[in-house]
Amino acid sequence: MPKIFDRQFNLHISAAQIADRIARVSEKISLDYQNRNPLFVVVLNGAFVFAADLLRALEIEPEMSFIKVKSYEGMASSEKMLTVIGLNEEIEGRDIIILDDIIDTGHTMDMLISQFRNLKAASIKTCCLLFKKQAFKANFTVDYYGFEIENKFVIGYGLDFNGRGRQYKDIYALAE
Ligand code: IMP
Ligand code: MG
Repeated sequence: MPKIFDRQFNLHISAAQIADRIARVSEKISLDYQNRNPLFVVVLNGAFVFAADLLRALEIEPEMSFIKVKSYEGMASSEKMLTVIGLNEEIEGRDIIILDDIIDTGHTMDMLISQFRNLKAASIKTCCLLFKKQAFKANFTVDYYGFEIENKFVIGYGLDFNGRGRQYKDIYALAE
């Protein structure tokens, strides 16, 4: 079991369970967006592994673009928000699906939704692999998600603890 910066993590969701859930999410999205070309906006860094697997499972012809925001330091969600890398695409009139690894308080996604509204997207949906429902404080609907998880700190499959732990195929939770 991984140990990162002296903290012990235990297996929480296996690679097989993740693959199974991504297949179901991609089926749903492929059905909802039949004959459309949505633009997936992927929130770096954490969502890059999820985005790569989801993209290859989809049965539509989507486009994908990457943005970078920062809202998290260590293990606590903070209200600070900083857009590091912006979008180059024309957003007006496009169907947007914002993709993140995890929705915790929902603050990150909330801010992104209002930015895409200002840019006059035709539609905006949200998608994440993990949803910490108990920590969620925002008002938007999480349209597509893989797993609802308890309010635990998790790493692996792209998710990090201060930059470490992204490389694992499975998802691990901080040991109590
Ligand atoms: P929110 O703005 O509170 O919803 O936080 C979302 C962002 O915080 C995600 O994009 C993640 O980068 C990060 N985050 C939230 N929970 C975790 C976690 O358990 N492990 C690693 N990163 C997390
Ligand atoms: Mg993130």
